[in-house]
Amino acid sequence: MKFFVDTAETADIADLSAMGLIDGVTTNPSLIAKSGRDFKTVIAEICKLVDGPVSAEVAAMDYATMIKEGRVLAKIAPNVAVKVPLTIDGLKVCRALRADGIMVNVTLCFSANQALLAAKAGASFISPFIGRLDDIHLDGMELIREIRTIYDNYGFETEILAASIRTANHIRECALAGADVATAPAGILKGLSQHPLTDKGLQQFAADWAKTGQSIL
Ligand code: G3P
Repeated sequence: MKFFVDTAETADIADLSAMGLIDGVTTNPSLIAKSGRDFKTVIAEICKLVDGPVSAEVAAMDYATMIKEGRVLAKIAPNVAVKVPLTIDGLKVCRALRADGIMVNVTLCFSANQALLAAKAGASFISPFIGRLDDIHLDGMELIREIRTIYDNYGFETEILAASIRTANHIRECALAGADVATAPAGILKGLSQHPLTDKGLQQFAADWAKTGQSIL
């Protein structure tokens, strides 16, 4: 399973990249606005920090403008994955950019039927939003399981990029459900290492080691 970090903060990306924890990055207009920085400059910086796909989202909603924006974004670096919305125009843009060999991430997916359309449009990634479905009392993880089954039934190569991940438990469940990628905020990825019994055990070992009076070095 691949981990992407869902952020536009380059310091967090550099940190996680140095730890060998991430395989790519996802951004969206909200994360770019939060960073307060120039969109294309940030994407160029991120693309230098990681080798894997870096999702950069178009801003327009109509085919003609989205395709122009997508081509501009794709020129920033070879590892840019252009992010387009799951609309009819977005799917047309997906098909056209994929024909040019550009990676495409189809975003704002909330149903298995939407995911099926994205795969048929040749998407590199489909982004089902787990947390936002949970927010409205639906089952985000069930969507991941449904897409996995459908893609496996027909041999679609589109990767399931589970997004809108809010908890460490979401990551565990995504891994069990067979998502290809999980994208999550830096804090959640780092938090995966934490367990109270690890901390407790470490304290006990340190105390017992001190009793031996020995030194390894
Ligand atoms: O990048 C899209 C997604 O991860 C957004 O998450 O928490 O705003 O629903 P969230």
